[in-house]
Amino acid sequence: MDIVDPDVEAYLVALASTDDDPILLEMESLAKKHDFPIIGRLCGRMLEVFARTLGAKRIFEMGSGFGYSAYWFSRATGPDGEIHLTDTDTENETKALDFLQRAGLDGPIAFHASDAFGAFKGTTGEFDIVYCDIDKDAYPEAWDLAKARIRVGGLFICDNVLWSGRVTGKVSGDVREGYTEAIMNMNQAIATDDDWRSTIVPLRDGVVVAVRTS
Ligand SMILES: C[S@@+](CC[C@H](N)C(=O)[O-])C[C@H]1O[C@@H](n2cnc3c(N)ncnc32)[C@H](O)[C@@H]1O
Repeated sequence: MDIVDPDVEAYLVALASTDDDPILLEMESLAKKHDFPIIGRLCGRMLEVFARTLGAKRIFEMGSGFGYSAYWFSRATGPDGEIHLTDTDTENETKALDFLQRAGLDGPIAFHASDAFGAFKGTTGEFDIVYCDIDKDAYPEAWDLAKARIRVGGLFICDNVLWSGRVTGKVSGDVREGYTEAIMNMNQAIATDDDWRSTIVPLRDGVVVAVRTS
């Protein structure tokens, strides 16, 4: 199920084509070549817009891949930010550090080549934004861990929360058993949490954006 009508998506992508940094294009081409699930141009720009709006400086990413989402966050924080990247694949660390360094965006970057939850527990203090993009069965736990460590006014952002429409019950099959159920459980928990206000942006595969209100 397409979340966004393909013609509308093409229009949005065309508008976003002014971002022509060769490093960004290289990252997008690598993702395409290996069918690697980056958050994509439109949602990437959205991450930057949210981070700039918030004046975010301290960000934690659960599931960074080779640094594509961090590319956009780093544009917003500037070099004096602090962005923690996590990925269990050490090859992604090498690629991310190379891309971000060549793009001149490595100033705020700290990469943890390990499980996101362990790395998160190894940090202290509150974050302006926690962004989640790990294996989907871990989404409910990610929300539980992150929500206590995001400042009031800060954001929890999580990708793939519409899961190609599977959350509607009208698309059969799952990528891995339990993924759809876990995503739906997290979506429900966020939507009903009295300390948060949230919305799901139906862009690409759906991105939940939740702001801590108390
Ligand atoms: C969808 S990709 C991340 C894409 C990235 N956020 C972007 O937009 O470019 C998910 C990544 O999370 C990593 N991953 C999955 N589960 C993880 C976990 N529990 N801890 C750390 N990394 C994890 C995978 O190795 C994979 O590279």
